[in-house]
This record gives sequence, C-alpha cells and structure tokens, in this order.
Amino acid sequence: MHRVVFNQKGGVGKTSITCNLAAIGASQGLRTLVIDLDVQGNSTHYLVGEIDAEQFPAEAQGVAGLFKQTVGPRKMNKNPESFVWETSFENLYLMPSSPTLGQIEKELEARYKIYKLRDAIAKLDDEYDRIYIDTPPNFNFYSKSALIAADSVLVPFDCDSFARNSLYDLTANIEELQEDHNPDLIIEGIVINQFNAQARLPGELVAELKAEGFPVLDTYLTSSVKMRESHHEMKPLVYLAPTHKLTQTYLDLHARLEKGLKKRRKGR
Ligand SMILES: Nc1ncnc2c1ncn2[C@@H]1O[C@H](COP(=O)(O)OP(=O)(O)OP(=O)(O)O)[C@@H](O)[C@H]1O
Ligand SMILES: [Mg+2]
Repeated sequence: MHRVVFNQKGGVGKTSITCNLAAIGASQGLRTLVIDLDVQGNSTHYLVGEIDAEQFPAEAQGVAGLFKQTVGPRKMNKNPESFVWETSFENLYLMPSSPTLGQIEKELEARYKIYKLRDAIAKLDDEYDRIYIDTPPNFNFYSKSALIAADSVLVPFDCDSFARNSLYDLTANIEELQEDHNPDLIIEGIVINQFNAQARLPGELVAELKAEGFPVLDTYLTSSVKMRESHHEMKPLVYLAPTHKLTQTYLDLHARLEKGLKKRRKGR
C-alpha cells in the first residue's frame, strides 16, 4: 500500500501528515517506510535529524542515490532496500532526501526516469506494510514520480482561499496523470488541516468543497502548537504526546483511512 501526500501549495501540512500517519501505523505494528522526495528534506529532519550530505556516499544518499544509479551503468543497480535507513522508532524506516535531489532533477527528467520510483517501490512491497511518500510543493518530476508510484493520494488542505483555488489545478493535474500514467490511482481524500471551528471562514470553505463534490475526509485536524513542538523535538505526535487532542484526531484519521483501505480490498 503506497500513499502519497501531495499538494502543490506550500506549507499546507504534507510533511506533518506524512510523518504522523506513518508513525501511527508503525506504532500499531505496521512495518512502515517514509520516502522523502522533497529536496527541503523536512521529513528527513523530522524523523532522523540533521544529515551531513558531504559525509554520505551516493549509495547512502537515500532517494537521490536510488535515482542516481538509474543513470549509471547497470552494475550499479542496487536493491532499493540499500537506500533505506532505520529510524529510532520501531517499525519506522526512512528513505531520506538529500540536496543531490535538486542537482539531478533535470537530468532525470531529460532521461525520462519517471517510472523508476514505481519500479523501486514494487521491489519494496514485500518488505513494508505501508509506504508513505512526502512530496515537494510543486508538480515536478519528483511529485509526478510519486503519483505514478502510488496507490492513493491524500491532499492536505489548510483552509485558506488560495488553497481552495489551487485545488482546481491540482485535481486537473492528478486527473491528467491518472489518464496518462496511473489509472489505478485513487484520491483517498482531502485532509482538512489547521481547522479552526471558532472562525467562520474555515467552516465555509470546507462546506463549499463538499458541495462541489470534493472527497473531504470527515476528520478535521485542528491547529496546535504541539505540531511545531513535535517537529522541533523530532518526535511524531504519537510518541511525543500520545494523549494530546491533535494526536487523538490523527489516530482517528489513521483509523478512518485504514478502514477505507480494508473496504476497498474486500471489494476487489
Ligand atoms: N495541525 C497543525 N497545527 C499547527 N501547526 C501545524 C499543523 N500542521 C502543520 N503545522 C505547521 O505548519 C508548517 C507547515 O507544515 P508542513 O511542513 O507539514 O507543510 P508542508 O506542506 O509539508 O510544507 P512544504 O510545502 O514546505 O513542504 C510547519 O511549521 C508545521 O509545524
Ligand atoms: Mg513538506
């Protein structure tokens, strides 16, 4: 099961949602891999802390190493597992980002390596119960690779009107990608993030999205300083503050997604 978290708008909660859902799954016994496809490396920092890119040879450079070997000689075709790192959290693994991702993007694109992530992930399928992919805030080579490799996409929405406008572009992009590359990709849902029930606008925006037929998930993640603290402490919420209200809402969201997955699998 491969879930990608994507929205081309920046700062809507992609990294927070990726790492926290992955951590919840891992804490419940699911062997889980997070792939950080964003050159900013926020998921990487969140889960394993600072990495000195100079210190690591290509094969240790996580997802960049994986892509890099696809433009080299065949003998460099290492098992994707060799680009995976352990984290300090049980059952939680990471294919980290590195600055190299930015340097090799154009070459990968020019050489049409858009299916390489999908091929690699297929080889990891037996190893992991869940694979979560964090994406950059652009519809670029990496986010396209992720959407091609994924079974489903979660779209974070941070309740502002710019975010709403960008949803139309985003939906069009996803539909085009489904048509051209991955007809099996499903939009698992729009994840409402930083919801404030006291303010008028968020409620109105969400109601409008629903009225327009967007698949809004019925668990709304609220805004809390705990999230920033969690990034700062480099500890996903389920480990940092298991009883906190936001953690409970995340648990509810995770349960909802897993229930939906079970249902889809049964219906096959
Ligand atoms: N529920 C929340 N409550 C409070 N702050 C939040 C919440 N979710 C995310 N944030 C904060 O919002 C900021 C952006 O979140 P995050 O990095 O997850 O977004 P992103 O979509 O991955 O951003 P980017 O597009 O830059 O990759 C972070 O500082 C994070 O701590
Ligand atoms: Mg991010």
